[in-house]
Amino acid sequence: MAAHTLLDKPLQFSSLLAISLFLFLVPSIAELQRFQQSAKADGSLSFLVIGDWGRHGLYNQTEVALQMGTIGEKLDIDFIISTGDNFYEDGLTGTDDPAFNESFIDIYKAKSLQKLWYNVLGNHDYRGDVEAQLSPILREKDSRWICSRSYIVNAEFVDFFFIDTTPFVDKYFINPGNQTYDWKGILPRYQYLSRTLEDLDSALKDSKANWKIVIGHHTIKSAGHHGVTEELLVHLLPILEAHSVDFYVNGHDHCLEHITSSDSKIQFLTSGGGSKAWRGDINWWNPDELKLYYDGQGFMSFQMTQNTADMAFYDVLGNILHKWSISKEAISTM
Ligand SMILES: *[C@@H]1O[C@H](CO)[C@@H](O)[C@H](O)[C@H]1NC(C)=O
Ligand SMILES: *[C@@H]1O[C@H](CO)[C@@H](O)[C@H](O)[C@H]1NC(C)=O
Ligand SMILES: *[C@@H]1O[C@H](CO)[C@@H](O)[C@H](O)[C@H]1NC(C)=O
Repeated sequence: MAAHTLLDKPLQFSSLLAISLFLFLVPSIAELQRFQQSAKADGSLSFLVIGDWGRHGLYNQTEVALQMGTIGEKLDIDFIISTGDNFYEDGLTGTDDPAFNESFIDIYKAKSLQKLWYNVLGNHDYRGDVEAQLSPILREKDSRWICSRSYIVNAEFVDFFFIDTTPFVDKYFINPGNQTYDWKGILPRYQYLSRTLEDLDSALKDSKANWKIVIGHHTIKSAGHHGVTEELLVHLLPILEAHSVDFYVNGHDHCLEHITSSDSKIQFLTSGGGSKAWRGDINWWNPDELKLYYDGQGFMSFQMTQNTADMAFYDVLGNILHKWSISKEAISTM
């Protein structure tokens, strides 16, 4: 099996770093898939972000879904973003896995949630049949479902960059324990990772949108159980910094969290409260940077225009836990 090659030859930081250094010498092989998303007629765009959710309605998944329906209606949302870990514990077994109905279709039933769902994959999704989640058969079952490994959504004044972060994490390859991961389609790993970074880098460079949002399953900065993902800190963050990304949005830690940073303009947002939350599981983080850490279930919303962004986090009862706004001048787009 191909996975053994990687186990025999564990990926070292140094070799991955070497790949990053050569990144800009490699000619572009492929471009990321793109989707076009319209803003509303009044020039605004609103959406919800949920992560770490598919548990057959258990652990308050259903209650969170009901509140998403209510808030989604109120904000007249245009779409939903999922930060991954879409189906617990081990992704989907195939396109006919009943979990697709029981954890998605039958849970997010509210009228306002009948919009496109832009999904990324999480590590738990990689423990099942990944190609099932990517399959057009799921879209035939439910036309809301969009899932690809890494892709772009152009939404007029906002560009969204969805990044497949699971293959970046060394431990899933070096020390998988009793888990098996479906690495079909991403090996050889070095090539996959460097191409992903290269495609992201060039797409960010070409982006003319006033706002740039990057979405991945794994954390870059987090005070939660999993904490910082070193591989992303080293390889992904410099690319986001170089292109003035506004927000990095992730799941993985089962909490709601907002981190700003004195040495970066990027705001780091965790929306991983879709079902099972990890009460009390928090590490120290600089209080000047940690604007919210909530260890229960919930989700977040964005309402954006060309020059403004209003964000909010909600708990399982729909109460606003934290909200803030930012504005900026439109960049000149020639
Ligand atoms: C569901 O949410 C309520 C309200 O926050 C909380 O008291 C309860 O513990 C949650 N249940 C689970 C299983 O997490
Ligand atoms: C799954 O949901 C779809 C859409 O609502 C429905 O047509 C189909 O019968 C459901 N399948 C099962 C096994 O419940
Ligand atoms: C797999 O490993 C986890 C964590 O070490 C353990 O809790 C679980 O019982 C193991 N499962 C099996 C089937 O061995």
